[in-house]
Order: sequence, then structure tokens, then C-alpha cells
Amino acid sequence: MCGIVGYVGHRQALDVVLGGLHRLEYRGYDSAGVAVLDGAGALRVQRKAGRLANLEAQLDADGRQSFAGTAGMGHTRWATHGPPVDRNSHPHRDAAETVAVVHNGIIENFAELRAELEADGVELTSDTDTETAAHLIARVYATGDTAGDLEASVRTVCRRLEGAFTLVVTHADVPDKVVAARRSSPLVVGVGEGEHFVASDVAAFIEHTREAVELGQDQVVVITREGYEVTDFMGEPAQGKPFTVDWDLSAAEKGGHEYFMLKEIEEQPDALANTLRGHFHNGRITLDEQRLADQDLRDIDKVFVVACGSAYHSGLVAKYAIEHWCRLPVEVELASEFRYRDPVLDRDTLVVAVSQSGETMDTLEAVRHAREQKARVLAVCNTNGAQIPRESDAVLYTHAGPEIGVASTKAFLAQIAANYLVGLALAQARGTKYPDEVAREFADLASTPAAVQKTLATAAQVRALGREIADSKAVLFLGRHVGYPVALEGALKLKELAYMHAEGFAAGELKHGPIALIEQDLPVVVVMPSPKGRAVLHSKLVSNISEIQARGARTIVIAEEGDDAVRPYADSLIEIPATSTLLQPLVATVPLQILAAEIARSRGYDIDKPRNLAKSVTVE
Ligand code: G6P
Repeated sequence: MCGIVGYVGHRQALDVVLGGLHRLEYRGYDSAGVAVLDGAGALRVQRKAGRLANLEAQLDADGRQSFAGTAGMGHTRWATHGPPVDRNSHPHRDAAETVAVVHNGIIENFAELRAELEADGVELTSDTDTETAAHLIARVYATGDTAGDLEASVRTVCRRLEGAFTLVVTHADVPDKVVAARRSSPLVVGVGEGEHFVASDVAAFIEHTREAVELGQDQVVVITREGYEVTDFMGEPAQGKPFTVDWDLSAAEKGGHEYFMLKEIEEQPDALANTLRGHFHNGRITLDEQRLADQDLRDIDKVFVVACGSAYHSGLVAKYAIEHWCRLPVEVELASEFRYRDPVLDRDTLVVAVSQSGETMDTLEAVRHAREQKARVLAVCNTNGAQIPRESDAVLYTHAGPEIGVASTKAFLAQIAANYLVGLALAQARGTKYPDEVAREFADLASTPAAVQKTLATAAQVRALGREIADSKAVLFLGRHVGYPVALEGALKLKELAYMHAEGFAAGELKHGPIALIEQDLPVVVVMPSPKGRAVLHSKLVSNISEIQARGARTIVIAEEGDDAVRPYADSLIEIPATSTLLQPLVATVPLQILAAEIARSRGYDIDKPRNLAKSVTVE
């Protein structure tokens, strides 16, 4: 939610900052803006509502040479306070236009700060919470002990702010420095040769350096050409955590694909293989980080999975595996609801927090609530060192690589695989599976990248189908057992990308209400269980399909190769490779992703940046 980038070095800051913003646009695209320090005491700012392309066009019209300078910063916004118009776009400045601030997060006490500034005669020009920070920093910089000291001024103001924020601050009087601060929102430093970066995500500077430093909670960093310095909000020296990014620029580029999402769908076999790699060693499943004793895992008597969006669906899939393998009750809960209903938690509860970004505020708050109740927390996350894994007792990283398309694809499949590894690790610790059984399940999981690769061969058929049904009013998705969460994910993809009414149902529930929705030619996508693995469910679903077909629905059936029994009921049949029951979601989801992407494309929408959405949602 909101992408921010700052730079000090030997290149033109405008180019570096715009390059970074391109890679951060997935975080929000309601508006964009830049500030460049020209080195001679002037702070040049431009900002524009809408996509980054609007800002770039404005910069061209202004003449980019007027933004010359080697220090600067930029922002791409997902609107929270105030509509996405020019005046609410970042950077925000003080009245004298010497301080510029970009911000990710929400300053919760901004109404009080705003009232205080207004009482002092400050005229605010935007509806944002961010602008208050610009005025406050300018005021503190002008007076008292902190006069003329930008980092001290930022620290002083940060101590007054409540909520979650990453701020990047520049001052016209300090042309060789950019100051940044963070609390509960992401901030990483990029360390180059004679240049330094700050950004929400390493993707912003990966083309310049892979050496990065993760900042801790309540820390301030000052970057210059020569180096960086970290302090806490009180000014005490502090340490960031250096790391080297293990992927390169090509992973963050479209590589000849029209959209990132299409590339990410194709990367799914690798995402799965990389997620599984290294997690089965000497006959044992291992996590990436474990700050828990094995005995703690043995004592677990209940599991909650908390997550949002697609990650939540991955949790719904995991429930079937964890209950089956570990004989433990598993509840799957939307993170945004979890802490508001007083869930029964204690030190024998394991809360599995699943989050691609590791910074989703709903999930983070669920983790915090769980920890307050003494529950153990295990994070499944795709972002090294993000806030959710930092606040957890154990971590399993999905090594899906950077996911830029806003709608999750490869991260979702990687989350299912990672959740299964968590289930196997629990089964192993608790002895509900023998070591050879764990090894067999892992070997089965290790076969899924090839099965997903094979499923990708359905793409042309699925795309043609997508074009045929692109004008439908609505699409329904049905599944049973693990096919039910797959149906939910298929419907979510279609809503997100094609803005179409789409609903997923457990097929058995259809007759209890949703069947009333069936009308002539309504496309209904059905995820069939294996005729061999789940014979009883299979025959029940065949009956469900014949019921909806009799009522005029257009049936689109995703079924295992060789499933001849369903053929007569399928107006369109998409065949996927046979897998064991629990692994079917990893293949069955793939055609649904392709279908949603193609329908969106036929309707002329931007697949990577669906309207109103952002990839990382750092507000509750
Ligand atoms: C947003 C995104 C979804 C994502 C969800 C959870 O709503 O648009 O694609 O599934 O957040 O994100 P997380 O980073 O926690 O997995």
C-alpha cells in the first residue's frame, strides 16, 4: 500500500526514482509524485493523479532538465485520506515549500495534529494525514535544539505520530541527504557504490544493487552518497539487518510477457519447486526459522490459519491436509475478523499467519493478538524479513520470487505448498505420521511442479473459452472438498481482474439456495474431484452438474484426464493431470487464473493493476 523510494548518489535522481516507482506501482496507483533536490537550495516537486504515466507526461511537459539533481524521492499512492486528486498526491510540503514528505501507512492521530497546526495558523492544502508530518517537521527543523538538524527533526516528529508509517523526508537546505523512518510499515535500504537508496521494497533498486539492509521497528535512517546511518526514534545508534537479495532484475521484469500476471502464472512450476527446495533434509521437514522447541509443536492442540484474500483461500486448502495428517482441529479465519471475536487461544494454540507480502495489516494485527494471548505464531511469507515473520515464533518462506501482478497467482500456489510443509512438520513433530509417510507425502508434493507445467498446456483452450464468455453477466464456481476453496479462488480472480460478478460455492450447498441463480447460458465452472481418489464425491458432483445443466447453465468442467463419466455433462471440458486428492488445488487453480486473466483482457482491463486494489494492504 503506497510505494516509496528515496535516492542519494551520482546518477540523476529523477531517473532512479521513476525507475523505482515503476517497480513499486503494484503497491498503489491512484497518483504518483517526485521531489528532487537540485543541490542549489531548491526542491523541485511534481505530482499527478492517476497512473505513473500521467506524472511522466507532466514531467515531459515541464521539461525533465528542470528536475536535475542527484538526491530525491518519489511515491505511488493508494488513497486512504482524501480522493486521488493532484492536491492529495505526495510529496507533501510545508508552507515555505522547503520540506517534502512521502508516506506509506496511516497516521492515526492526524486529526489532533491537524487541529493543532490549524490553531497555529497553518493552512493545510490537502485532505491527507501526511501533510501534517511535513508541517510538523518544518516547524521542528526551524526551532530549538533540533534547528537545522533534519534527522533529529524527523525523530522528534515520529515520536508524536501514532499508527503505521514509513516516511521519507527531504529538505531544500540539506541537498545531500534523504532521511527515512519506519514504524510497522516496510522500509529497506539499498547499499550501492557511491549511492544509497531507501524503498518500500528491494524491487525499487534491484537494478542498481542487491545489497540491502532491513530496518527495524521505530528506526530512522539517513542516506548520503557515502553511506547510511541508523538510529532509533530517541537518536540512539541502532543496527539494521543486512541481506543480499537472492533474485535479480529479470525476476522483476515482464520478460516479453504482455503482463506480469501472465508471466507469474507461467512461473508457477518454479515457484513451487523453489518453495519446496531445502525443506526436506535427512528425512526431516525443516522450517526456515524456528524459535520454538519441538516440544512446543508437540503440545499444540489446535491450529488457526489467519490470512486475507488469496492467502485465506490457501489456508482453507491447508485445513484438509493438516486435519488429516495431524489429527488436530484447524480453524481458518479471515484475519480482519479474527481478533474481534475473542477466539479461544492459549500457549498450545498454533496460529499460522499466511501472507505473501508479510505486511498486510489485518494479518499483522491478528498475529499480535495471538501473541498477546500467548499463542505460538508461525508465518508463511514470501518477503524476507517482513513485519509478520519478524513478529512470529517460526517462519516458512515461500520462495515464489517477486509477485508484481496485484492478483496473486504464483504466491498462492506457493502458499498451498508451504502450508502443506507446515502440516508435515507438525505431523512429524507429533508423530501422527511415520518418517516414511512424511517422505512419501513430500515426494508427492515434489511432483507438483511437473504437473503444473503440464496444466499450463491448457492455456490456449482456456483463453479461447474466456473470450467466448467474456460478455457474461456473472460466472459461478463450484467445488467440493479441496475443490471448494479452489472455486472460491477462481471467483475471486474473476472479481478482481474482470470486475464481474462471480461467486464460489460448495457444490453440495447449491440446492440450498444458490441454484436459484442458474439461468439460461450462465457459465458455471465446476472443479471435479478425482473419479478414483474421491469416487463418492465425484458421483455427487456429476449429479449436481446435471441439475444445473437441466436448468440451462453453460457448464465448464475442470476434470482429471480420463474422467469420462463427467464428459456428457460438460459443455466445455478442461482436462488437468491426475494428482492425489490433496494436491489437486495446485493444478486445478491454474486454468481458473488463465480464464480470469483472459476475460479481463478481452474486456480491455489492465490485468496487473485492477481498479481500486493494491497488492499490499497496510491499513485495517
Ligand atoms: C490484497 C491483495 C490480494 C492478497 C491479499 C493478502 O487484498 O490484493 O491479492 O491475496 O491482499 O495479501 P498478503 O500479502 O497478506 O498475502
